[in-house]
Amino acid sequence: MAPAEHFGEQQGNRRRFLRFLLGSPLLASRPVSGWQTAPGSGAIADLRDALNVMDFEAAARQKLPPAHFGYLATGVDDDVTLTANREGFKRFQLRPRRMVDVSHADLRTEIFGTAWEHPISLAPVGSQKAFHPEGELAVARGARSMQALQILSTVTTCSVEQVNEAAGRPVWFQLYPTSRWEITEKLVRHAESAGCPVLVLTVDLPVGRHTETLERMKRTDTRNCAACHNSAPGHAFQRKPMFGGIDMTGVGVYNAAVTWEFARRLRETTRMKLVLKGIQTREDAQLCREHGIDGIIVSNHGGRAEETGRSTIECLPEVVAGAGDKLTVLVDGGFRRGTDIFKALALGVRGVSIGRPYCWGLAAFGQAGVEKVIELLRAELELIMRQCGVRSIAEISRSFVTTP
Ligand SMILES: Cc1cc2nc3c(=O)[nH]c(=O)nc-3n(C[C@H](O)[C@H](O)[C@H](O)COP(=O)(O)O)c2cc1C
Repeated sequence: MAPAEHFGEQQGNRRRFLRFLLGSPLLASRPVSGWQTAPGSGAIADLRDALNVMDFEAAARQKLPPAHFGYLATGVDDDVTLTANREGFKRFQLRPRRMVDVSHADLRTEIFGTAWEHPISLAPVGSQKAFHPEGELAVARGARSMQALQILSTVTTCSVEQVNEAAGRPVWFQLYPTSRWEITEKLVRHAESAGCPVLVLTVDLPVGRHTETLERMKRTDTRNCAACHNSAPGHAFQRKPMFGGIDMTGVGVYNAAVTWEFARRLRETTRMKLVLKGIQTREDAQLCREHGIDGIIVSNHGGRAEETGRSTIECLPEVVAGAGDKLTVLVDGGFRRGTDIFKALALGVRGVSIGRPYCWGLAAFGQAGVEKVIELLRAELELIMRQCGVRSIAEISRSFVTTP
């Protein structure tokens, strides 16, 4: 996560050479982890040239300094879970129905009583000014024009009040537990007073992680990054508006001691809807039910938490079964195609979030890039719905997917 990042004290010929190599057009089009962009495709210079959301990855890579692109691209360890998130979709195939009048398809849906034009939302991603000077505000404007739900990270680089104004409605707020309850409670009250209707507690990073791709890319970044990143206590939080006026010395955003007791306490602390992000098993979904949790985001943090090697789409059937009828289930991790979204909806989720794709759009083209990414996915989803003989989100059922 960004707060712990300290880029580029070291300089030297080797790094400058690596940087030169990374900047070359040949390498700029190469995806970091091998799956995001079709081999050989170049970076698009105009967003109208984008054929799919993966086209934005190479464009983002060209625009961003290596360390910032590394932060966006990285998984953990060997990036196996990151890759699995994409591979998993291949294990589910579609069963289209014929002879249905699909002249029109309606993508509207409802989540916690709020109507949305489509089920595609923007996952919480920290430190978005690392990708574009307007950061979360550009994303909020894009979300507004595309009528998409935005989930704002604890480590946002724009204030929640400004983001809510730009989004035209209060966004959902993602909460890291922090290692001190008083601080956690302040964050919750802050989100509440800003009007956020839903609190998303991220539970998949209790003890840090090994983001090796990020570390490798940092080594190729020859800039002097001391102005933004240094190791003074609490410094990483000073540019994070949620922590304004809070002494973060000796405090971390993660908390290794979090248990279901923490969830119970949080439940009693706020009237906001409470969603747990990072659930991957039937057992934990059942425990969510028992603890009065309103919703689940099935997630492995985009392959950035523990290296399970298991995709979120493959976790879905058991989590949906454990969640039962009362809990609202959403999912994220590797969603890059309308068919991916369709499969998740067929497996029983209410909505699907994307992380990296809208950040690629943001990095490459600002607000317009965010909009284009959502537009492409929305159009692909509509197409596959109609191709499968489906006219509304409610009509998408388990019978439309099968496994080999
Ligand atoms: C650069 C980056 C920063 C992230 N920051 C957060 C965060 O602050 N809080 C959080 O709950 N999840 C965070 N995530 C995870 C996303 O919310 C989401 O689970 C993931 O990106 C979905 O996978 P995808 O990127 O393949 O779409 C981050 C992901 C990325 C790529």
